[in-house]
Amino acid sequence: MNIILKGKKPVLDLPYFGRQSRFFDFFDKCITPLMSEGGIYAETNSGSNSNIFMFAKKGYKVIVNDASLYSNAIAKAVLSNEIPENRKLNNKEFDKYKSSYIDRAALFAGLIDMYGYNPIVPKTIDKKLEEKINNYRAHLNDIAKQGIRAYKIYNDDLFDYLKKLKEENIKVDVMFMDFAWPWRDGTKTDEYDTTVNVFSKIINGDCLNIKIWDKSNVIDNVIKAINEAKKVSKYVLLSNQSSNYPTPEILEVALLKNGIAYEERHTMLTDAEYEDNLGKDSFFREYLYVIRGNLD
Ligand SMILES: C[S@@+](CC[C@H](N)C(=O)[O-])C[C@H]1O[C@@H](n2cnc3c(N)ncnc32)[C@H](O)[C@@H]1O
Repeated sequence: MNIILKGKKPVLDLPYFGRQSRFFDFFDKCITPLMSEGGIYAETNSGSNSNIFMFAKKGYKVIVNDASLYSNAIAKAVLSNEIPENRKLNNKEFDKYKSSYIDRAALFAGLIDMYGYNPIVPKTIDKKLEEKINNYRAHLNDIAKQGIRAYKIYNDDLFDYLKKLKEENIKVDVMFMDFAWPWRDGTKTDEYDTTVNVFSKIINGDCLNIKIWDKSNVIDNVIKAINEAKKVSKYVLLSNQSSNYPTPEILEVALLKNGIAYEERHTMLTDAEYEDNLGKDSFFREYLYVIRGNLD
């Protein structure tokens, strides 16, 4: 399938760098035919959780993973009934946001809304920030009330996560992978350094100290991730975008050279809006590769 569609706002709507909501209708069209009834839909990098929420709402069992505590807070806020461990926060001002995942996710969303992906986080919360946090909290509460639940939620480096699924003998219909791809010039996306590594310090959480991929290691990591994902999946879906390195040509040659022949390549073209507001390109193209996994 190669289509042009206009983006829509997602149901679960928080600021998140790299959120793919423009493509959700397209993903639905490509992924649903691959799913068995009530089957398992999983992601390696769930990010905003807006995509996985859509599939959970459709009635599939979903498995969430992301290395970022912001992403994990969103997942636990809207897809679980869990309450966070009661840890002391580093900063007294932020203390009142520690006791629920909804509060944590709302705090992170408010910080991004006010300050972008700035790794220097303020020590105090002024009225404007508090208002933003309250709005995000209300939105998260509305979503949580829908009672949609995940089958499992992980907060791991994706290789550890894939290993765990294998050890737990989990069989996935579709494993969707939208990595923290480097920019087209090969540099890493610093925004994820903030949400993965810096934000964990705000809530005194365990920092995974994840190294965000760049040109030097992205292709090796992608090949390794596909091969690990194939072991637990019927289908592995690789999602890449026109703003990233490697470009489709470079990626497709690397896949073939490494013995990975995709069955289909879907694309969707859209205008750049809603997502990061950075105005980097006026258009945006998604490439979605369907790769057959090792499971029948
Ligand atoms: C492109 S974003 C995913 C966006 C998501 N598809 C959405 O629509 O919101 C990439 C995600 O990978 C996460 N990430 C970066 N390195 C990771 C790693 N080694 N293991 C797991 N997640 C990682 C980042 O925290 C980020 O949320």
